[in-house]
Order: sequence, then structure tokens, then C-alpha cells
Amino acid sequence: MSDAGELDALLHEDRRFPPPGVFTGQANCNDPEIYDRAAGDPEAYWSGWASELDWFEPWHTVLDWKPPHAKWFVGGKINVAHNCLDRHVEAGRGDRTALIWEGEPGDTRTFSYAELHREVSQFSNALRGLGVEKGDRVTIYLPMIPEAAVAMLACTRIGAIHSVVFGGFSPDSLADRNNDAESKVLITADGGWRRGSVVPLKANADVALEQSPTVTNVVVVARGGDLTDHTPVTMKEGRDHWYHDLMAESSSDCPAVQMDAEDTLFILYTSGTTGKPKGVVHTTGGYLTQTYATTKTVFDLKDDDVYWCTADVGWITGHSYIVYGPLANCAQVVMYEGAPDTPDRGRFWQLCEKYGVTIFYTAPTAIRAFMRWGEEWPGKADLSSLRLLGTVGEPINPEAWMWYHEVIGGERCPIVDTWWQTETGAIMISPLPGLTVTKPGTATRALPGIEAAIRDEAGNDTAAGYLAITTPWPSMLRTVWGDEERFKETYWSKWRNVYFPGDGAKVDEDGYLWILGRVDDVLNVAGHRIGTMEVESALVDHPSVVESAVVGKAHEIKGESIAAFVTLKEDIDGSDELMSELRNHVGMKIGAIAKPEMVVFTAELPKTRSGKIMRRLLRDIAEGRTIGDTTTLADPAVVKKLQAMHEGDEG
Ligand code: WTA
Repeated sequence: MSDAGELDALLHEDRRFPPPGVFTGQANCNDPEIYDRAAGDPEAYWSGWASELDWFEPWHTVLDWKPPHAKWFVGGKINVAHNCLDRHVEAGRGDRTALIWEGEPGDTRTFSYAELHREVSQFSNALRGLGVEKGDRVTIYLPMIPEAAVAMLACTRIGAIHSVVFGGFSPDSLADRNNDAESKVLITADGGWRRGSVVPLKANADVALEQSPTVTNVVVVARGGDLTDHTPVTMKEGRDHWYHDLMAESSSDCPAVQMDAEDTLFILYTSGTTGKPKGVVHTTGGYLTQTYATTKTVFDLKDDDVYWCTADVGWITGHSYIVYGPLANCAQVVMYEGAPDTPDRGRFWQLCEKYGVTIFYTAPTAIRAFMRWGEEWPGKADLSSLRLLGTVGEPINPEAWMWYHEVIGGERCPIVDTWWQTETGAIMISPLPGLTVTKPGTATRALPGIEAAIRDEAGNDTAAGYLAITTPWPSMLRTVWGDEERFKETYWSKWRNVYFPGDGAKVDEDGYLWILGRVDDVLNVAGHRIGTMEVESALVDHPSVVESAVVGKAHEIKGESIAAFVTLKEDIDGSDELMSELRNHVGMKIGAIAKPEMVVFTAELPKTRSGKIMRRLLRDIAEGRTIGDTTTLADPAVVKKLQAMHEGDEG
């Protein structure tokens, strides 16, 4: 969280950016009454959006709210793949481009809606051939290739529940997720390109599969003709199947299964305050309704738009705003496999020019990296096709916002700073680009149909405190997979019948919300949620480590980086080698995104008399600040020693 001085500066932001008149004139949402109308009758508002989708059977009740359990569109029957594909093909839009994909090496593939429909139907049959039935779990561990979207949609077509695992996660993380969800099938690839080299996904998966007893069949996509030359793949007889072989044997006739609006659509694991990630459960009708509606309103999506969201499908942003929201809207979606700096730092901007991207959605951490790389890179490309920019994943600092506005948006594109979470499923707080006067650094206010507030511990309204969502919304998480207690405890125990997202926030004189970051032990590193406990468990798993405490440290580009304080076994000395060994150990246990940037060896950790580690003090030390109140410490000398040691390191 920012300190008080920074905060005051933020809240006195006086730059205001009204939507350009030409933008408002053509915007999907340009009637300011929409907020009051939605607030007056949220159920009518959301059912209005739901009725734009195709339902096999209508719902009889819009909302059944028995806190903390919501059911939306009760009694309705619907299928997500049908709404993302068949619906458009049946409307005569089969020739329209659905996916424009580019691999990191520069290879390209495009799919029309008809082609994507065929591919998905065929793969649904292939999954059925492997014994996948409605309600079964399927893990997807793929690079950013079209088959990732195909696999997700194929699951939804037959009612299988997907659990997508980010390709950067380690074999251990993959195995944990396979086991928690009791997945029957794993879909992976030989490899995927990232920064000029191949990530050996199948080889990682093989390690995970040794500890994933429920997975009985594995589907392997051959990423590119020549990739197998780089990545030798071992196929286990009877368990492993090539995607292309299964497809060759499968019919493309696969009617979409009628799902209940409240049937589970997918599980997506996200970090929390314990060592074990939680499987956030989303259901079908409400999730599709809100992702569909917000794509149209927040991104102002039109038929001639070329839409690009740079997230990975392994995160909720990829689920909701690469796959489901855009395809439900029949959008033309750009998908890119690789890194923004490969082969050079202009790659994103070349892609924008090449495909004529009009809507561009990325993370503040990426924007800060672009700023650091310099204006020359975007300067080399023609970015005049862009008309709307978006950000997601963490608070955006006003300086980065201004740079995005001026250098990328040419001062003509509204910016939508969208606040939401894996748990909320879809965007909750954001400007509407044709209506909202934006200010750099604030996500502004809750969308129509959503009620957000700032509450104190006791649940009273306050100007600075915790963000709260006070009414149910269609794409809300329904539970934590296999752990209903954790669901109640994490999100619904702070206040009565009000959702606690875990973020701190302030409200300014215009009623705009400023999200300040997590208030729990969850870090936001380059827009990725990482639990401090997860990293601590990975560290103590190393034979040399007795205890560890992990905190976030402000980082210019990543927002936060990971600092680890580690106590070693008595006979072991801290060395640079051990430091890098520990970093790699965390990489191996969780994934490269969780590697601590800073490791400090310490004989003891600062603890209160009751034995609680004082993370606030560790954060002060990591960031080189004056140490706060130490009166509750069991042994104040520990902090002095740590501080002296750390200053010694820095010097
Ligand atoms: C943070 C990503 C400020 C927040 C969609 C939230 C943001 C967590 C914003 C969820 C934003 C996301 N401004 N903070 N516009 N968007 N966050 O589950 O702390 O990966 O709780 O979902 O990211 O991260 P998650």
C-alpha cells in the first residue's frame, strides 16, 4: 500500500479527461441514466443483458439470494460454447473472423467463427472419446495458442469443467491443481515460445503426472511443425494422445449440451492467504451474462473493432476478456503467444499496426516497462487505429496512465482502468468510456448494476478503508472448490452479507474509488497474485531452511517484488550460491513468477511476544525505511541486527 504522503497526492489529482465528444456520440453506452436505471432495478438490468443471449429454456427467477449463496437466472438452460459460436454461425456470421493468432516466431493462424465452431465441436467429441462426461474436470496447461481457446470452449460444449493452469507454473503447482480438482484429463502441448526459447510444457506435465493419480488421459498439441525438433516429447502408450490424431478420428457433429444456469463452468485457482491456492468456482448463466455485457459496455465493442487483450488464458483476464466475453459478442480477437520484447521491444506496437487493433487491454506493469523502454518503440509503428485503451490487474500510477494516454493513445483514446478479480469473474469498477470523466489512477466508480462501498472494520461507511461489494452480481464466485468453509471465511466473514474482496480503497470528493492494493498477505507482482504463505512454504521445503517470512517490496515496474527473510539451519552458512539455489527452489515449487528478488539471511525473525511475525517491520527493512513501532516485539534487538545487515548489503 502507498504511504500517506503519496496517497494525499493521489487524491488531489486534478487532471480530468472527459470522453471526447466523437467517442460519446458513437458509444454503446452514452445515456447517463443507465446508472440510476440499473440501481433502481438491478434484476431487470441484468436480465435485460441475459436475454440478449440464446437460452434453451428461459429462467423463472432472476436472482435467488441466500447469502452468501446466489443463484442467477434460476431454471434457465444455456450453453456457453453455443453462445460463443453456434449462435453467430446460425445468424449467418460464420465467415467472420473470430481469432487472429500470431506466434512469437511470427507464424500466424486465423479462424473464422465457422472454423472455430468446427474445431471446437470436433475436440468436444475427442474429449468424449476419452470418457469425459458432464461435470468431469479437465486441466488445460497450454501456451497462448488457439487450441487453448478451443479446449476451453470444447469443455463448455459438453459440460466438462475446465481448470486452466498458467503455462509458467511448475510441475508441483500443476500436480496440486490436478489433485485438488481431481482432473480426469490433462491437455498440454509439446512446448510454447517465450522470449526466443521453448517452454517444455509436456516435459513439465510428465513430472506433474507422476503425482496426479486421477489423470488417466493426456492430450498433447503439437505447437508447431518444427517444435518437436527442439523439444523431445515422450508419449506414454495408452495415456498420451496427439491432439491431431484425436481430431482426425473425431466427427465435427456435436450438439451443445443444455446446461443449467447454475452448473459449474470452470474452476480457476488463485492465491490466498494460506499455502494452498483456492479453486474459485464460476457457474454458467450469470458468468456469461456479465462477461458479455461488460465487454460491450466497458470496451464499447463494435462489429468493426479488432480487439486485443494481452493477458494469458491462464488468468481470469484471459478467460473473461480473451475468450468468453469477446466471443459471446462475435468480436474479432487478436491472440499473441509470446513476450512483448521479442524479437524487439516494438513487438506489441507492430502487432497493433499489422492487425489494425482498435481496442487494446493490458496491465500497468507492462505499461511501466514500455515507458522504461522509451517512446522510440511505439514511435516506429502506426497506432492510429487504436480508439480505446484499457488496464487491469493492479493500481495504475498516474504517471503511467498519462504516458499510456499520450504516447499510445495519441491523446484521443479513452482509458478504462478496470478493477475486478478472479472471484468477481468480470469487471466491477470501471469508467464507461462514452460517459465517465476519467482521472489518472482511479478506476472511478462501480458499473451499472454493481454496488461498491468503502467500509471500516465494523461495516460502517468511511472515506478510507476496505473495498466492499454490497449486493450480489451475476458473475460472482459461487464457492471455493471442495472448501465451502474457506469460501465463507475468506469473503463473507468480515461483514454480514457483504462481499470482502481483500483490497484497501479510498473515495475522493467526486465519489471516485481509489484502489490501494491488497490488505491481506497476498502480493501483486507484475499483476499476478502470489500468496506470501505459498512462497514461505516453498522456502521451508528446502533442506537448509528453518523458517522464512515473505513480504512485498515496492518495485518500479512490477509494482511489487518479493523479499524473503530466511533463517537457515544452525550449521549452514548463507552464501550467494545458496541464495540463488533458494530462488530456484521457489521457481521449481511454484513457478518463475514467484522467485524472490531479494533474499536476506537472518538468525531470527522479528516476532511479537505471541510469536506472530511482524511483516510490517520486514517491509520497512526491505524498502530501507525508518522502522515503525517496535514496542510489541519480543526481542527488539533482532530488528536492529537485520537492519544493519541489510544496510550493509545495500552499501
Ligand atoms: C488488483 C485480475 C487496482 C486488486 C482481474 C484485486 C486492481 C486483484 C485492479 C485481483 C485495478 C485488479 N486497480 N487494483 N484496476 N485490477 N486489481 O484475481 O488487488 O488476478 O484484488 O484478477 O488485483 O487479481 P486477479
